[in-house]
Amino acid sequence: MHIPVLVDEVSEYLKVAEGRIFFDGTVGLGGHTAAILKASSDNFVYGTDKDGEALKLAKNNLTDFTGRFQFFNTDFKNAASLPVEIDKIDGFLFDLGVSSYQLDRPERGFSYSKPAPLDMRMDNKQELTACEVLNTYSYQALFTIFREYGEIKNPAKILDRIIYQRKNKKIEHSDELKTIIRKIYPRQKAMDPLSRVFQALRIEVNRELEGLEDFFIKLFRKMKAGSRVVIISFHSLEDRIAKSALKKGEDEKVIEILTKKPLTAGQGELAMNARSRSAKLRAGEAPKRGAV
Ligand SMILES: C[S@@+](CC[C@H](N)C(=O)[O-])C[C@H]1O[C@@H](n2cnc3c(N)ncnc32)[C@H](O)[C@@H]1O
Repeated sequence: MHIPVLVDEVSEYLKVAEGRIFFDGTVGLGGHTAAILKASSDNFVYGTDKDGEALKLAKNNLTDFTGRFQFFNTDFKNAASLPVEIDKIDGFLFDLGVSSYQLDRPERGFSYSKPAPLDMRMDNKQELTACEVLNTYSYQALFTIFREYGEIKNPAKILDRIIYQRKNKKIEHSDELKTIIRKIYPRQKAMDPLSRVFQALRIEVNRELEGLEDFFIKLFRKMKAGSRVVIISFHSLEDRIAKSALKKGEDEKVIEILTKKPLTAGQGELAMNARSRSAKLRAGEAPKRGAV
């Protein structure tokens, strides 16, 4: 089960009631796509997701709308090579990161709440797994990943233990990694190094941030006048990229920022969906000629 976040805000900013063509870069289980398709019987959605398993489930969830969507099992950063006319799209959505479905499936290895193989691939056709990263990357490479993607100020303590352990035995499961980290940092509520290490590995495995800002800027340049883009992020690294891309797009006069501050979930949504706590939504509109 995946409850889509900020659905009303997405619907408002993408003006979904008007019967148009949309691009959902992160279909997941199709929650936002469903909301778009429900809003008008004239809406059509092109979608991408790296996770083929999620796309199959999304198609099952969307049988009421068959014929009104077309999905591609690929990275949204490949949008330019798809048979989709980007300059005909009226609204783009990017709901970044992992879905609850991915987090809740122990065998996918995204979560440390249950013992699981250290996999973390959104696209299970790719070869690189978290296990590979953890056991084959150099000390320096892991140091950089933990610092930059996990925002751990000094990951040396954790790394010393990981390097020591992997010399004796490959670290293959989430509970082994959890034990290593918990020995150094017993349970912590805020800024837990355990969740930060998992976040860092996940971002590296899926190359989540690589080329993201560049992709957004190139997309803004191709968007037709009056079309809109909505980006939802779940941690500060993603939000920084969304903010920076929109700012650069505005400086270049290819996008107009619609959300001076990011939108967050209201009390009602927070009470219903804990995942919405960290969601931030930013939106922009491609200006009519000379309008910025
Ligand atoms: C937060 S979930 C989206 C949930 C979706 N909006 C819904 O309502 O069900 C993020 C999804 O995006 C996918 N994803 C993340 N980065 C991606 C990328 N660069 N290209 C394609 N899919 C991506 C993940 O596999 C995951 O299924």
